[in-house]
Amino acid sequence: MTHEHYERFRRLLDLTDDYLARGIRRKRPQRADSSRVASDTRASQKEPAHEAAHEAAHGAAGLGRQSAQTASERPDLSAGGGDRQAAHTALQQEVTACTLCPLHRERTRAVPGTGVLEPRVLVIGEGPGADEDKQGLPFVGPAGRYLDDWLAAIELSRTENVYITNVVKCRPPGNRDPLPQEWGACNSYLSRQIALLQPQALLAVGRVASGVLTGSSDGIGRLRGRVHSYEGIPLVATYHPSGVLRNPAWRRPVWEDLKQLRAIISR
Ligand code: URA
Repeated sequence: MTHEHYERFRRLLDLTDDYLARGIRRKRPQRADSSRVASDTRASQKEPAHEAAHEAAHGAAGLGRQSAQTASERPDLSAGGGDRQAAHTALQQEVTACTLCPLHRERTRAVPGTGVLEPRVLVIGEGPGADEDKQGLPFVGPAGRYLDDWLAAIELSRTENVYITNVVKCRPPGNRDPLPQEWGACNSYLSRQIALLQPQALLAVGRVASGVLTGSSDGIGRLRGRVHSYEGIPLVATYHPSGVLRNPAWRRPVWEDLKQLRAIISR
Protein backbone atom coordinates (compact mmCIF):
# COMPACT_ATOMS: atom_id res chain seq x y z
CA MET A 1 0.00 0.00 0.00
CA THR A 2 1.48 3.37 -1.00
CA HIS A 3 1.56 6.28 1.41
CA GLU A 4 -1.26 7.94 -0.54
CA HIS A 5 -3.44 4.83 -0.37
CA TYR A 6 -2.78 4.61 3.33
CA GLU A 7 -3.79 8.26 3.83
CA ARG A 8 -7.01 7.78 1.84
CA PHE A 9 -7.90 4.70 3.84
CA ARG A 10 -7.19 6.47 7.14
CA ARG A 11 -9.41 9.42 6.13
CA LEU A 12 -12.21 7.06 5.15
CA LEU A 13 -11.98 5.47 8.60
CA ASP A 14 -12.12 8.95 10.20
CA LEU A 15 -15.21 9.76 8.17
CA THR A 16 -16.95 6.52 9.10
CA ASP A 17 -16.10 7.15 12.71
CA ASP A 18 -17.66 10.63 12.51
CA TYR A 19 -20.88 9.30 11.00
CA LEU A 20 -21.22 6.72 13.71
CA ALA A 21 -20.36 9.15 16.50
CA ARG A 22 -22.36 12.24 15.57
CA GLY A 23 -23.71 12.03 12.05
CA ILE A 24 -21.47 14.87 10.86
CA ARG A 25 -17.81 15.26 10.05
CA ARG A 26 -15.44 16.58 12.70
CA LYS A 27 -12.62 18.92 11.92
CA ARG A 28 -9.25 17.33 12.55
CA PRO A 29 -5.86 18.96 12.54
CA GLN A 30 -4.44 18.81 9.04
CA ARG A 31 -1.58 16.33 8.78
CA ALA A 32 1.43 17.20 6.67
CA ASP A 33 1.23 15.28 3.40
CA SER A 34 3.95 16.04 0.92
CA SER A 35 2.28 13.94 -1.79
CA ARG A 36 -0.49 16.51 -2.29
CA VAL A 37 -0.02 19.89 -3.94
CA ALA A 38 -2.66 22.59 -3.57
CA SER A 39 -3.85 23.73 -6.99
CA ASP A 40 -6.26 26.35 -5.68
CA THR A 41 -4.92 29.84 -6.23
CA ARG A 42 -7.59 31.65 -4.23
CA ALA A 43 -5.89 32.71 -1.03
CA SER A 44 -9.04 32.37 1.04
CA GLN A 45 -9.67 28.73 0.01
CA LYS A 46 -7.74 26.10 1.91
CA GLU A 47 -7.42 22.68 0.31
CA PRO A 48 -9.69 20.40 2.33
CA ALA A 49 -7.92 17.88 4.51
CA HIS A 50 -10.60 15.29 3.86
CA GLU A 51 -11.05 15.62 0.13
CA ALA A 52 -9.79 12.11 -0.55
CA ALA A 53 -12.13 10.67 2.04
CA HIS A 54 -15.05 12.45 0.41
CA GLU A 55 -14.09 11.13 -2.98
CA ALA A 56 -13.72 7.63 -1.62
CA ALA A 57 -16.98 7.79 0.29
CA HIS A 58 -19.20 9.73 -2.10
CA GLY A 59 -17.49 9.82 -5.47
CA ALA A 60 -17.76 13.62 -5.46
CA ALA A 61 -14.88 15.91 -6.41
CA GLY A 62 -13.47 18.00 -3.55
CA LEU A 63 -14.31 21.65 -3.26
CA GLY A 64 -10.71 22.77 -2.98
CA ARG A 65 -9.78 21.31 -6.34
CA GLN A 66 -12.95 22.51 -7.99
CA SER A 67 -12.75 26.04 -6.73
CA ALA A 68 -10.11 27.34 -9.17
CA GLN A 69 -12.19 26.08 -12.06
CA THR A 70 -15.44 27.38 -10.64
CA ALA A 71 -13.91 30.76 -9.81
CA SER A 72 -12.94 31.22 -13.45
CA GLU A 73 -16.54 30.59 -14.51
CA ARG A 74 -17.91 33.16 -12.12
CA PRO A 75 -17.87 36.85 -12.97
CA ASP A 76 -14.61 38.58 -12.13
CA LEU A 77 -15.59 40.71 -9.21
CA SER A 78 -12.16 42.16 -8.58
CA ALA A 79 -13.05 45.37 -10.39
CA GLY A 80 -16.46 45.63 -8.75
CA GLY A 81 -15.28 44.38 -5.36
CA GLY A 82 -15.20 47.88 -3.89
CA ASP A 83 -18.70 48.53 -5.19
CA ARG A 84 -19.95 45.33 -3.70
CA GLN A 85 -18.36 46.18 -0.37
CA ALA A 86 -19.91 49.65 -0.44
CA ALA A 87 -23.34 48.31 -1.45
CA HIS A 88 -23.12 45.71 1.31
CA THR A 89 -22.22 48.31 3.93
CA ALA A 90 -25.11 50.54 2.80
CA LEU A 91 -27.55 47.62 2.97
CA GLN A 92 -26.33 46.65 6.44
CA GLN A 93 -26.87 50.24 7.62
CA GLU A 94 -30.35 50.30 6.12
CA VAL A 95 -31.30 47.10 7.93
CA THR A 96 -29.81 48.35 11.19
CA ALA A 97 -32.00 51.46 11.04
CA CYS A 98 -35.11 49.70 9.66
CA THR A 99 -38.55 50.50 11.10
CA LEU A 100 -40.68 48.83 8.40
CA CYS A 101 -42.42 46.42 10.77
CA PRO A 102 -43.24 46.31 14.49
CA LEU A 103 -40.35 43.92 15.25
CA HIS A 104 -37.97 46.89 15.34
CA ARG A 105 -39.59 48.14 18.57
CA GLU A 106 -38.45 45.19 20.65
CA ARG A 107 -35.09 44.47 19.14
CA THR A 108 -31.80 45.06 20.91
CA ARG A 109 -29.96 44.93 17.60
CA ALA A 110 -31.01 44.18 14.06
CA VAL A 111 -29.20 41.22 12.52
CA PRO A 112 -28.51 41.91 8.82
CA GLY A 113 -26.14 39.01 8.12
CA THR A 114 -22.50 38.05 8.13
CA GLY A 115 -19.97 36.25 5.98
CA VAL A 116 -17.93 36.67 2.84
CA LEU A 117 -19.12 38.85 -0.01
CA GLU A 118 -18.46 36.27 -2.75
CA PRO A 119 -20.03 33.25 -1.07
CA ARG A 120 -20.44 29.85 -2.57
CA VAL A 121 -23.47 29.36 -0.36
CA LEU A 122 -25.93 31.77 1.21
CA VAL A 123 -27.53 30.19 4.28
CA ILE A 124 -30.95 31.56 5.18
CA GLY A 125 -32.54 30.94 8.54
CA GLU A 126 -35.75 32.08 10.12
CA GLY A 127 -34.93 35.01 12.36
CA PRO A 128 -32.61 36.05 15.18
CA GLY A 129 -32.96 34.43 18.59
CA ALA A 130 -31.97 35.91 21.94
CA ASP A 131 -28.19 35.50 21.44
CA GLU A 132 -28.33 36.91 17.93
CA ASP A 133 -30.44 39.87 19.08
CA LYS A 134 -27.80 40.71 21.71
CA GLN A 135 -24.81 40.40 19.38
CA GLY A 136 -26.30 41.62 16.10
CA LEU A 137 -24.96 38.49 14.36
CA PRO A 138 -26.87 35.52 12.92
CA PHE A 139 -26.60 31.98 14.24
CA VAL A 140 -24.28 32.59 17.20
CA GLY A 141 -26.14 30.42 19.77
CA PRO A 142 -26.15 26.61 20.04
CA ALA A 143 -28.01 26.21 16.72
CA GLY A 144 -25.38 28.41 15.10
CA ARG A 145 -22.51 26.34 16.41
CA TYR A 146 -24.23 23.24 15.11
CA LEU A 147 -24.78 24.94 11.75
CA ASP A 148 -21.05 25.70 11.64
CA ASP A 149 -20.39 21.96 12.12
CA TRP A 150 -22.68 21.16 9.19
CA LEU A 151 -20.90 23.65 6.99
CA ALA A 152 -17.46 22.40 8.03
CA ALA A 153 -18.54 18.87 7.05
CA ILE A 154 -18.72 20.04 3.43
CA GLU A 155 -15.68 22.33 3.58
CA LEU A 156 -17.68 25.51 4.06
CA SER A 157 -17.41 28.21 6.69
CA ARG A 158 -18.77 31.66 7.33
CA THR A 159 -15.24 33.08 7.33
CA GLU A 160 -14.21 31.59 3.99
CA ASN A 161 -17.03 30.88 1.56
CA VAL A 162 -20.46 31.35 3.15
CA TYR A 163 -22.78 34.22 3.98
CA ILE A 164 -25.50 33.74 6.62
CA THR A 165 -28.70 35.68 7.07
CA ASN A 166 -32.37 35.23 7.99
CA VAL A 167 -35.73 35.95 6.41
CA VAL A 168 -36.41 38.48 9.18
CA LYS A 169 -33.63 40.63 10.55
CA CYS A 170 -35.14 41.43 13.96
CA ARG A 171 -36.03 38.95 16.69
CA PRO A 172 -39.67 37.86 16.87
CA PRO A 173 -40.71 38.02 20.55
CA GLY A 174 -40.40 34.72 22.38
CA ASN A 175 -38.85 33.18 19.23
CA ARG A 176 -42.28 32.78 17.64
CA ASP A 177 -42.48 32.28 13.87
CA PRO A 178 -42.21 35.55 11.95
CA LEU A 179 -45.60 36.71 10.66
CA PRO A 180 -46.21 37.10 6.92
CA GLN A 181 -46.27 40.90 7.20
CA GLU A 182 -42.94 40.79 9.06
CA TRP A 183 -41.07 38.63 6.52
CA GLY A 184 -42.93 40.47 3.76
CA ALA A 185 -41.51 43.77 5.04
CA CYS A 186 -38.03 42.24 5.25
CA ASN A 187 -38.25 40.54 1.87
CA SER A 188 -36.65 43.34 -0.10
CA TYR A 189 -33.54 43.12 2.10
CA LEU A 190 -33.24 39.40 1.46
CA SER A 191 -33.74 39.68 -2.28
CA ARG A 192 -31.20 42.51 -2.44
CA GLN A 193 -28.71 40.44 -0.44
CA ILE A 194 -29.13 37.54 -2.87
CA ALA A 195 -28.72 39.82 -5.88
CA LEU A 196 -25.65 41.47 -4.36
CA LEU A 197 -23.89 38.33 -3.16
CA GLN A 198 -24.66 36.12 -6.19
CA PRO A 199 -24.14 32.84 -4.33
CA GLN A 200 -23.75 29.61 -6.26
CA ALA A 201 -26.48 28.06 -4.13
CA LEU A 202 -28.92 28.86 -1.35
CA LEU A 203 -29.42 26.71 1.74
CA ALA A 204 -32.72 27.37 3.50
CA VAL A 205 -32.78 25.94 7.01
CA GLY A 206 -36.14 25.19 8.55
CA ARG A 207 -39.77 25.33 7.54
CA VAL A 208 -40.13 29.11 7.65
CA ALA A 209 -37.15 30.02 5.44
CA SER A 210 -37.88 27.13 3.08
CA GLY A 211 -41.53 28.20 2.80
CA VAL A 212 -40.66 31.86 2.17
CA LEU A 213 -38.09 31.03 -0.51
CA THR A 214 -40.08 28.36 -2.34
CA GLY A 215 -43.46 30.04 -1.89
CA SER A 216 -44.84 26.70 -0.71
CA SER A 217 -46.79 25.95 2.44
CA ASP A 218 -45.59 22.33 2.46
CA GLY A 219 -43.75 21.14 5.55
CA ILE A 220 -39.97 20.89 5.48
CA GLY A 221 -40.22 17.08 5.27
CA ARG A 222 -41.77 17.51 1.81
CA LEU A 223 -39.64 20.46 0.68
CA ARG A 224 -36.30 18.84 1.44
CA GLY A 225 -34.75 16.12 -0.70
CA ARG A 226 -34.94 17.96 -4.04
CA VAL A 227 -33.35 21.01 -5.58
CA HIS A 228 -35.56 24.09 -5.94
CA SER A 229 -34.74 27.26 -7.80
CA TYR A 230 -34.90 30.82 -6.49
CA GLU A 231 -34.59 33.27 -9.38
CA GLY A 232 -32.39 30.78 -11.21
CA ILE A 233 -30.20 29.99 -8.18
CA PRO A 234 -30.30 26.37 -6.94
CA LEU A 235 -31.95 26.16 -3.55
CA VAL A 236 -31.60 23.29 -1.10
CA ALA A 237 -34.02 23.14 1.82
CA THR A 238 -33.29 21.21 4.98
CA TYR A 239 -34.26 20.97 8.63
CA HIS A 240 -33.37 23.78 11.04
CA PRO A 241 -30.31 23.05 13.22
CA SER A 242 -32.29 23.64 16.43
CA GLY A 243 -34.88 21.11 15.26
CA VAL A 244 -32.15 18.57 14.55
CA LEU A 245 -30.60 19.16 17.99
CA ARG A 246 -33.96 18.11 19.42
CA ASN A 247 -34.54 15.31 16.94
CA PRO A 248 -31.40 13.31 16.09
CA ALA A 249 -33.34 11.19 13.58
CA TRP A 250 -33.12 14.18 11.22
CA ARG A 251 -29.33 14.06 11.11
CA ARG A 252 -29.25 11.52 8.32
CA PRO A 253 -31.60 13.49 5.97
CA VAL A 254 -29.64 16.67 6.75
CA TRP A 255 -26.45 14.93 5.71
CA GLU A 256 -28.14 13.86 2.45
CA ASP A 257 -29.17 17.49 1.86
CA LEU A 258 -25.65 18.75 2.59
CA LYS A 259 -24.20 16.27 0.13
CA GLN A 260 -26.70 17.52 -2.44
CA LEU A 261 -25.59 21.08 -1.76
CA ARG A 262 -21.98 20.10 -2.03
CA ALA A 263 -22.59 18.42 -5.40
CA ILE A 264 -24.26 21.60 -6.69
CA ILE A 265 -21.40 23.89 -5.75
CA SER A 266 -18.79 21.44 -7.01
CA ARG A 267 -20.20 21.44 -10.55
N1 URA B 1 -32.20 30.61 14.28
C1 URA B 1 -32.34 31.23 13.09
O1 URA B 1 -33.18 30.84 12.26
N2 URA B 1 -31.55 32.26 12.83
C2 URA B 1 -30.62 32.69 13.67
O2 URA B 1 -29.91 33.64 13.33
C3 URA B 1 -30.47 32.01 14.89
C4 URA B 1 -31.27 30.98 15.19
